[in-house]
Amino acid sequence: MTSSELAREALPQSIKRRVKRMLGPWGVFVEGFLRHPVMVGSIIPSSRFTVRKMLAPVDWDECRLFVEYGPGVGTFCRPVLDRLRRDGQLIVIDTNPLYIDYLRRTITDSRFVPVLGSAADVEEIVRAHGHDHADYVLSGLPFSTLPEGVGPAIAAATHRVLRPGGAFLVYQFTAKARDFMARHFQRIDSGFEWLNVMPCFLFWGWKQDGE
Ligand SMILES: C[S@@+](CC[C@H](N)C(=O)[O-])C[C@H]1O[C@@H](n2cnc3c(N)ncnc32)[C@H](O)[C@@H]1O
Repeated sequence: MTSSELAREALPQSIKRRVKRMLGPWGVFVEGFLRHPVMVGSIIPSSRFTVRKMLAPVDWDECRLFVEYGPGVGTFCRPVLDRLRRDGQLIVIDTNPLYIDYLRRTITDSRFVPVLGSAADVEEIVRAHGHDHADYVLSGLPFSTLPEGVGPAIAAATHRVLRPGGAFLVYQFTAKARDFMARHFQRIDSGFEWLNVMPCFLFWGWKQDGE
């Protein structure tokens, strides 16, 4: 290849890199969506209103292990770390290597543990990091577009991994996740957030004693 051909080849790459840098986490999120639209399920990260409302009922003093499914580019991660106790841990699990790689590079907090894997394997992942249970589990998974059987399996595994008194926090554009949760959680509180693209349902499934 001649030097002018090389220069021509390199130009679109450098433009791509510059656009990506300008867009920051948004660019990474959109790229992840374009590669795996069904698994990501949304082209825009959650709003700060959704984040605030979803996390409001968490008892942070009693939270040693917080788990998040589908963190994407980390919209919830920083707000969770801001609230989490100093000896707490935040394990985030995502199937998309682009997002996990981005989170590893950009969040350096020692309490933060990004894991490339599926939420369906939450019990093994929690145990592998030295915990018996999780205090809270947050999900941004697109339950309505997950492959057949995966949503119910994740809801069941989440119920098993939570301690009594802990909760499964779910936000979604449809109420589908509630059906999966209701098979395991007797108490589910519901909410709705208009200030999100798109407006979304919020659910808090509380694991009761003896459940
Ligand atoms: C709608 S995005 C959530 C984005 C982010 N949490 C937010 O609030 O902006 C859904 C995420 O779920 C991830 N995902 C899909 N299936 C998964 C699974 N089985 N286990 C873990 N993550 C999964 C996708 O890679 C994507 O990052």
